[in-house]
Amino acid sequence: MTVKVFLDEKDIPRQWYNLAADLPTPMLPPLGPDGNPVNPEMLAPVFPMNLIEQEVSTERWIDIPEEVLDLLYRWRPSPLRRAKYLEEALGTPAKIYYKDEGVSPPGSHKPNTAVAQAWYNKQFGIKKLTTETGAGQWGSALSFACALLGLECKVYMVRISFDQKPFRRLMMETWGGQCLPSPSETTNAGREILKLHPETPGSLGIAISEAIEAAVTDPKGETRYSLGSVLNHVMLHQTIIGLEAKKQLKMIGEKLPDVVIGCAGGGSNFAGLSFPFVADKINGANIRIVPVEPTSCPTLTRAPFAYDHGDVAKMTPLLPMYSLGHTFVPPPIHAGGLRYHGMAPLVSQATVEGLLEPESIPQLECYESAVLWSRTEGTISAPETSHAIAAAIREAKKAKEEGKEKVILFNWSGHGLMDLTGYQAYLSGRLEDFALPEHEMQESLKSMADLPKPPMNKSGKW
Ligand SMILES: Cc1ncc(COP(=O)(O)O)c(C=O)c1O
Repeated sequence: MTVKVFLDEKDIPRQWYNLAADLPTPMLPPLGPDGNPVNPEMLAPVFPMNLIEQEVSTERWIDIPEEVLDLLYRWRPSPLRRAKYLEEALGTPAKIYYKDEGVSPPGSHKPNTAVAQAWYNKQFGIKKLTTETGAGQWGSALSFACALLGLECKVYMVRISFDQKPFRRLMMETWGGQCLPSPSETTNAGREILKLHPETPGSLGIAISEAIEAAVTDPKGETRYSLGSVLNHVMLHQTIIGLEAKKQLKMIGEKLPDVVIGCAGGGSNFAGLSFPFVADKINGANIRIVPVEPTSCPTLTRAPFAYDHGDVAKMTPLLPMYSLGHTFVPPPIHAGGLRYHGMAPLVSQATVEGLLEPESIPQLECYESAVLWSRTEGTISAPETSHAIAAAIREAKKAKEEGKEKVILFNWSGHGLMDLTGYQAYLSGRLEDFALPEHEMQESLKSMADLPKPPMNKSGKW
């Protein structure tokens, strides 16, 4: 039985896939403070124009520059593996395949877009990037990418993760990045929050406000902001994962998968694996496509589709997305990268269309699944990734009940070697589930009450 499939470097995909070209209903535009659609010039203080062009593009295929491929070759193509030992432990007739994104130097899928974004910024003459990070995976990925391209990097890390994951900070510093706990005293946004809530665990929404403020206030104009998820160009860069997976499945004679799974924080690793298969579904294939989120931060499964800001200080335009409200501060679960109030507009619109079947899973089931994974497959998974594993296990058990030999494909988005405090809490019985109480969600949704409401446009085909 083949347990790993390597794609030759010469067969690496040379174009990214843009789902915006194929969604049956067009994407709604982001809105500015006056309620009108933002134009590319309005985004120019925040992002370089070459990335803004990708952000608004509706071209189906976008060429990957040779220089970006050269950066990606350091770890790509990533292996497609078969979770044979987990299958045996579950006694399932299902075949479970996964893309191993843990092979990148920082250990997750995040460098796929980090190196592309750093390269486009450098082309545009930018000298320094600022960003936020939850679990620290994105901050370390961008620090790594900036080191390769000779850019400065400043990372605002959500306080709870900064405290839980000191080694992530050291990784960033080793690559030459600067890492600050957020909220910090270095920005107006951070100082405001600290005045109101000195003990706050922080949130991605707060850290984004700080990173954007730090970029747009550079008096020399040589700094831009870089986002590790949510935006269209980030989804685009990640599609190399699914495009490789398609080639690898074909190499071993597999048909299209029956189920495609990814954990979803801002949506990028899920989109990266699944969008090329969403295209098949749009063209008639019968595939169940599942983004998985924590029950404590149930964006796709419980929140409304709304226009909302991407950050607490309302510095970003209004994005059409499922959102728990930009003031939402999620419970301090260990999957820091899944503690975001919103969801990528592309993932959101595909959900509105009915192309996706989102699920939420509690933290304890995810750790239980991740520990079973380690004791069968061997590797230690990021807490975010454990959500995808838990969903894959649910699907494999269902296949067993139904007696069907389903093909399940999921994204193993990263390793958890820097996330062992979560395992420590689980193994010592101290870990708890947090289901978000309805009244807390309603309170946080109030922050969107006065914002424009997007139409739920859908073709009605799914
Ligand atoms: C390993 C890993 N998986 C998943 C995620 C979630 O992010 P996204 O939904 O953008 O893939 C993160 C975010 O930090 C991560 O570090």
